[in-house]
Amino acid sequence: MSKHSPIGIFDSGVGGTSIWKEIHSLLPLEHTIYLADSTNAPYGEKPKEEIVALSVKNTEKLLDMGAKIIVVACNTATTNAIKHLRSTYRVPFIGIEPAIKPAALNTRTKCIGILATKGTLSSALFAETSSLYSRDIKVIEVVGKGLVQEIEKGGKDSPKVEKMLRELLDPMIKGGIDHLVLGCSHYPYLIPTLKKMLPPEVSIIDSGMAVAKQTRLVLQSMDLLANTKEAAPEFYTNGSPSVLRSLLSPIADSFKIETLDF
Ligand code: SIN
Repeated sequence: MSKHSPIGIFDSGVGGTSIWKEIHSLLPLEHTIYLADSTNAPYGEKPKEEIVALSVKNTEKLLDMGAKIIVVACNTATTNAIKHLRSTYRVPFIGIEPAIKPAALNTRTKCIGILATKGTLSSALFAETSSLYSRDIKVIEVVGKGLVQEIEKGGKDSPKVEKMLRELLDPMIKGGIDHLVLGCSHYPYLIPTLKKMLPPEVSIIDSGMAVAKQTRLVLQSMDLLANTKEAAPEFYTNGSPSVLRSLLSPIADSFKIETLDF
């Protein structure tokens, strides 16, 4: 493993490209390899054992490709599988958790909303984090049922998604939230629609930049930060590459985007 080994990133599908974008903009010299496990999306409704097994499969593929660090760009996989991954492999893992802390520290209405998958909201790791920061505030948790499937189909801006979001946001808006925490790496693609629906005083918080900064910190501490640009980003999907391409446009032309059996 060297400074020029790739950063491996995986997600249950295309959503983790929201995290990849932050990593690529903060660490432009790094070679990145992204795996989209779209065939098995969504992870959010699966039992923990299956989420762990899928995370192991993705990790082994990235290790075969020479990854020096692995970013689990999926909240559901992080909250259910990262402990197992860290105790099984020597490579460092960066996870993504809902950003409850900044929302809880900054709320004025003492009420925040969290939109995430069932798998994330019911995980032990989420319960631990939530209980640390939400003692004096009200947290309205809503499962974003069906949203990942629609984004995977390329429907992030569709009227169907708009209708689903209207229903999901209703209890949060009525409850008086002033922060909405996005607890799924697919959801940043919904921000333009969310902004049209939420009262202007509600801040939307996602964890992408925090993940990128943590990746930089860990690589720095291991003296593994790349210092020259050696290779273009690579994206592999076991589903259809067209949605990946459209989410990465207009910058996708110089990237390798291919179908792969994994
Ligand atoms: C899912 O696959 O259900 C969502 C991915 C995530 O939690 O970030």
